[in-house]
Amino acid sequence: MHLTRLPLSRRQTLGLLGGSAAALLPLPAWAESAAVRRLTAAPGAVQLVGRRYPATEVWAYDGQVPGPILRLPQGDRLEVDLVNRLPEDTTIHWHGLRLPNAMDGVPGITQPPVAPAERFHYAFDLKDAGTFWYHPHANSSEQVGRGLAGVLIVEEPEPPQVDREELWVLDDWRLGEDAQVLPFGGNLHDAAHAGRIGNTVTLNGAIPASWPVRSGERVRLRLVNVANARTFGLRFEGHAPQIVATDGQPCTPHAPADGVVTLGAGGRCDLILDMGGDPGARFRLLDEHYARFAYELLEIAYTEAAPLRTNPLDASVALPANPLPQPELAAAGGLEVVLAGGAMGGLAAATLAGERLSLRELARRGKVWALNGQVHAGHDDPPLFRLDRGRSYRLRIANDSSFEHPMHLHGHHLKLLGRDGRPAAPETWHDTLMVAPGETVETALVAEAPGRWMFHCHVLEHQLAGMMATIEIA
Ligand code: C2O
Ligand code: CU
Repeated sequence: MHLTRLPLSRRQTLGLLGGSAAALLPLPAWAESAAVRRLTAAPGAVQLVGRRYPATEVWAYDGQVPGPILRLPQGDRLEVDLVNRLPEDTTIHWHGLRLPNAMDGVPGITQPPVAPAERFHYAFDLKDAGTFWYHPHANSSEQVGRGLAGVLIVEEPEPPQVDREELWVLDDWRLGEDAQVLPFGGNLHDAAHAGRIGNTVTLNGAIPASWPVRSGERVRLRLVNVANARTFGLRFEGHAPQIVATDGQPCTPHAPADGVVTLGAGGRCDLILDMGGDPGARFRLLDEHYARFAYELLEIAYTEAAPLRTNPLDASVALPANPLPQPELAAAGGLEVVLAGGAMGGLAAATLAGERLSLRELARRGKVWALNGQVHAGHDDPPLFRLDRGRSYRLRIANDSSFEHPMHLHGHHLKLLGRDGRPAAPETWHDTLMVAPGETVETALVAEAPGRWMFHCHVLEHQLAGMMATIEIA
């Protein structure tokens, strides 16, 4: 198994360049791979926001933010020893992977929590190629929010022909003036609104500035959103990205709707970009998701190098298919889940640990979200659905709230059939599916693997405030 370190921090990069204005983003150095079978979660410090500030105290895997890139070929077996050097319990959840339930990393449900100074061995076969990630599933809002997140890339046996591949881990932090992470916990306002949206966006653990590209090259860009709550809406001015995979699963290559690549918390996207600008040209890469707060994420900066080619590569950009089971719609069972709660919503009351409570009483207990009227309390909750193993289901998700929710299903992928009655074109697969306020999405899945699988909002403060349930497959 291979591991790649994100090399220089931006501070070091700036140092190398003598602080030149054309600061280069840290680029993953794939060649530095080495076999590693251990991930240590521990407190550490990283230079997150540049040299005018002190290092930020974080919780990190192997001292790196984001954590080490795990990169293995499809069909290989991933084996990782998690060592817990945190002051509290943790686990690793392998986000987006189809794996045995016992490897899914949910404390109290799929495994015992990994206590401080203890370890846990994760081992499973990598069925699907794609862009995945890993993070704790214990005290998630704080542990992920302090920096525990890393990427798992599973390589296709025959990847599409590109000149270069790049990985962007997008994150967002809530930092004080001293560049330290502001406290977690007890923020009902975050929980009842859009979650813990930060004030500092990082790309591969640094403040992005400039992305050097060469005229004529074809780039595969893997995007991963590890933020607690923030949605990114990326517009590559002057360029026409093709989406070739959503949440790791290949799709018919297509342009993003309205030219904006939307990536909810926990979501991933693989893009193919033909860099058609002239040498020396500059373009803006904007994040437009929150219309009132649109900003320039970075500048696409063409080097002066002569174009690599004059016409875009003629090779297909499509990824080879994964062996995902296809739902059989004719025989599918029907499921519906209503997302409700939060501020400016219609939720009057819901059930918490068997007790029917008003929203006000729920809020006093830090709970403000419900799935089908049920607030997540813990492992004793009855499952949201009991599904027959191997059977296909249609799952309709209706968002009856004033906030968007990236809904994540563990161990399985949902096939998006349509939104608000409009068929999806093309149909795409999602393990983390964004549902807009008031929207209803139609999906289908095969209840493939036995066990209790979490289904929750990946806005981690919504999850914490009750927006989670299990789906039991037997
Ligand atoms: Cu990425 Cu249940 O989480
Ligand atoms: Cu949510």
